[in-house]
Amino acid sequence: MTGTTTATRPGGHVPSDAAQGLRRAMVWEERVQRAAHPVVYPAIRGMRRLGPVVRVPGLGVVVSDAATAREVLLDTERFTKVGPGSPAELWTPVLGPSVLLNMEGADHANLRRALSGLFTPRAVRELTGATVGAVLDDLAPRLLAGRHVDLVAQTAAMAGTVICAMTGLPPTDAAVREAMTAAQSVVGLVRLHRRSLTPAQVRHARAVLARLSEPARAAYRDGDESTVPGRMRGLGLTETEAMGAVGAFVLTGTETIQSFVPRLVALAADTGWLDRLLTGDAALRGRAVEEALRITAPTPAMLRSVRADAHVGTVRVRAGDRVVIATISCCRDAGPFDPDTPTSPAVRHLWFGAGPHFCLGMPLAMAQVDAVLDALAPVARAGRALEVTDRAVARGVLIPAYRSLELAAGAAAGPR
Ligand code: HEM
Repeated sequence: MTGTTTATRPGGHVPSDAAQGLRRAMVWEERVQRAAHPVVYPAIRGMRRLGPVVRVPGLGVVVSDAATAREVLLDTERFTKVGPGSPAELWTPVLGPSVLLNMEGADHANLRRALSGLFTPRAVRELTGATVGAVLDDLAPRLLAGRHVDLVAQTAAMAGTVICAMTGLPPTDAAVREAMTAAQSVVGLVRLHRRSLTPAQVRHARAVLARLSEPARAAYRDGDESTVPGRMRGLGLTETEAMGAVGAFVLTGTETIQSFVPRLVALAADTGWLDRLLTGDAALRGRAVEEALRITAPTPAMLRSVRADAHVGTVRVRAGDRVVIATISCCRDAGPFDPDTPTSPAVRHLWFGAGPHFCLGMPLAMAQVDAVLDALAPVARAGRALEVTDRAVARGVLIPAYRSLELAAGAAAGPR
């Protein structure tokens, strides 16, 4: 699916540029979502019409309301990431039992505390400053020289470079490509309607991650604190914990970025926000990025297993039931993309989760987003309008995404 779509005009009424842009943006977002999940996405979106919490045989209890979702995520007595239908069922056979996203309680809190040193503003600055700059430096010069750039490929190169840094691999082109292919081939095994991986999928995923963590193991054993595995050793993690963390970072932190950055730029371009996103001050940029995270919700669903009989909203659930938090509905239904309107407290940051499993990598995610926007900003500052000239959506992926998003520097931008 390529080319740009022109919004239609209902019943002779001529919509404003802003309304047309918003409509175009949402048409593309729908295409991105439906290409990834042609059956489950419309089904989950359809649930909202039946109620904020709906039991769906074969899938689980689907939550489409932000306040209820937050209650579930914060109630660790009754809802857990370990147990039937939970993420642990998917990932424990691949990653082992102790990788944050399949842990609860004191062990989880202790491991998170140990890992938090990797995500301080300084640690993140050092990691991205040392790695992604080289990948992104020529972005604006190429655009200003009249060349077209595929932002999906560029973001993949950045995310792959970060994986190399995480695993201690030198970021050669081949290593970056291999790291991304590995991450995608494992994440791509997951389907929302299946509760676990098949034995063959587990074997494949274990083999891929074992290959990827070989250099990480060597870096851990060397203990060189300029590498992430070496730092983990310095932070007191055992080798098993460190290797599990590397696996968890690769699974959670690669495709989300690969998905979000191009969708952010596309959404901003469609809605007329791109120039402000690139040249506005940090506060304005922050609001636009948060709004784009709310609208795109790169992790479209979160799973929990019911630990003890309870109610979710008005629906009674029993131990062993699965709760599917439809993050995409909770976030997107709070209104159209509008960085000028504050996000309601129930929704704020829900795209990164809530409670003890709140995204550990958020600072690294934001640093990567900033790195791309900083790299594109010289185009806008040169008075040129950055344009989306072509795009295609990715089919059959777990995390909805563009397959390609081609950018070019157009004519001079209008007055700012
Ligand atoms: C835009 C990008 C990202 C989004 C939208 C995102 C979203 C999320 C969400 C929703 C959760 C919570 C899941 C749940 O409670 O079931 C989560 C957890 C997590 N994320 Fe992210 N994430 C992003 C980027 C990253 C990056 C770059 C990393 C880096 C390594 C990362 C590492 C993690 C980890 C380790 C967890 C598990 C935390 C725990 O269970 O304690 N994420 N993320």
